[in-house]
Amino acid sequence: MNLEKRWWKESVVYQIYPRSFKDSNGDGIGDLKGITEKLDYLKELGIDVIWLSPVYQSPNDDNGYDISDYRSIMADFGTMQDFDEMLAAAHERGIKILMDLVVNHTSDEHPWFVESRKSKDNPYRDYYIWRDGKDGHEPNNWGSCFSGSAWKYDEQTQMYFLHLFSKKQPDLNWDNPIVRDEVFDMMNWWLDKGIDGFRMDVISLISKNPDFPDGIPGINGYASFNEPANGPHVHEYIQEMREKVLNRTDNMTVGECSGVTLEEAKKYASSDGKELNMVFQFEHMDVDADEGNKWTDKKMDLRDLKEVMTRWEKGLEDIAWNSLFWNNHDQPRVVSRFGSDQKEYREISAKMLATCLHMMQGTPYIYQGEELGMTNIHFDTIDDYRDLDSINAYHELIEQGVYTKEEMLKFLSMKSRDNARTPFQWDDSKNAGFSDGTPWIKVNPNYAEINAKEQVGRSDSVFSYYQKLIRLRKEHDIVVYGTYDLLLPDSKEIYAYTRTLGEEKLLVVCNFYEKEAAFSVPEEFKDAECLIKNYVDDNWGSEGKLRPYETFVLKIS
Ligand code: NOJ
Repeated sequence: MNLEKRWWKESVVYQIYPRSFKDSNGDGIGDLKGITEKLDYLKELGIDVIWLSPVYQSPNDDNGYDISDYRSIMADFGTMQDFDEMLAAAHERGIKILMDLVVNHTSDEHPWFVESRKSKDNPYRDYYIWRDGKDGHEPNNWGSCFSGSAWKYDEQTQMYFLHLFSKKQPDLNWDNPIVRDEVFDMMNWWLDKGIDGFRMDVISLISKNPDFPDGIPGINGYASFNEPANGPHVHEYIQEMREKVLNRTDNMTVGECSGVTLEEAKKYASSDGKELNMVFQFEHMDVDADEGNKWTDKKMDLRDLKEVMTRWEKGLEDIAWNSLFWNNHDQPRVVSRFGSDQKEYREISAKMLATCLHMMQGTPYIYQGEELGMTNIHFDTIDDYRDLDSINAYHELIEQGVYTKEEMLKFLSMKSRDNARTPFQWDDSKNAGFSDGTPWIKVNPNYAEINAKEQVGRSDSVFSYYQKLIRLRKEHDIVVYGTYDLLLPDSKEIYAYTRTLGEEKLLVVCNFYEKEAAFSVPEEFKDAECLIKNYVDDNWGSEGKLRPYETFVLKIS
């Protein structure tokens, strides 16, 4: 039952991308000491849990999502002592820490892979997925998430290994029970340190169909990296993880499940507690994609967004728990994407988007800087990008003649992961107060206007608005546990829904567009209390219309 009370349903999670959060030693790279310094800021925001993107030792082909030692800290980020201090300081403030668990693959520099590639009879050979070629080609047409084939030929033993991500991220072989035990031991080691749970990177991809069938080719000629999603043993392996690891403590788990369907999510996140607490699904991140291809300037149709969100809200009702997000380190900034980053509407639309998400049923995730309304960056040249996904796609799609250089630069400025990865904007001093050195990626030039120092304490800032949304979740059970129902499914401008819990009812109204939209507050809400709104005056809902990007939440009981 979704009414069953659990701390992770009542929590708000804040994602930190350590490389871009706060640099404490002037090397231009964010670090653990920097996070510790800023815990009071997060406490003031009111969040309960931090999801820490990977901080483990890594050669950084994919900014830490390529791990070469799961039990040590990347030197750029500090030491294990820095980690322990950060964990203790977070706990002192009542903030929990979720580690990013990246175990679909390791780095090719992980000692397991170094051994595995040495010879066919190496004891570590079967830790990874090795196959012979087919007629001189790759074993099948699966593509890597980061362009090209998902198979790399290795001269040493003249076989191919599978890498659904970069060539430096070989996939682990989860069918090997020794691999599973290695992962479970490592997870237990972190739980013993006192961490509070895991965000599980592409966990839906760990079990591959042993027949390795071809998939439908996409725009670059390869099948999607999601082809193996929800494979034959995935639920069995996660249940084993629950028994051998997760049941030991009262932790929180969220599985990043690319390619997950609603039916599969009901298994991953079922409230019977056999697998995970919740999953990240990505259907709403595809509403402005073209049949799965994100490199496009297609505009989102609000009706599609509502259809997806509602299908998940209703589909998991009483069966499993939703996670709610607009942003993470792989997505562009939501205010630029679904709102407006123009000066006039930036704050108002950031607040509207936050309301729309935080009032739904599920656990909300805030990605660093979202609480300030940080925006996409605009780079004029590919040389400014740092993300391998963006750089590889740029070269591949231009070389194949799919897009011109101008088109690719435009699509990157709309969709590149680097939009989310520019340094956190702390204040209006040099480098936005992120670092005294040269930041590893350019700071967004709008930091003089958009920064934490300017917003903390300003009562009508985006930051203060997020504080209030988080407080509402603590004050009103209905925000957490109420049942969701969509209103006006066919409206192209307005996203409106209700939440119901016993005698109480909320009405959430959001105008997604930069113009007025006709709307009358339903009769039953005429005398309702307004819990939150994004225009300062009290004219919400009057005159039968909503103002540009207007939002408000009404409550009756
Ligand atoms: C999903 C992560 O969120 C992304 O940043 C990463 O590149 C891939 N998984 C590979 O680990």
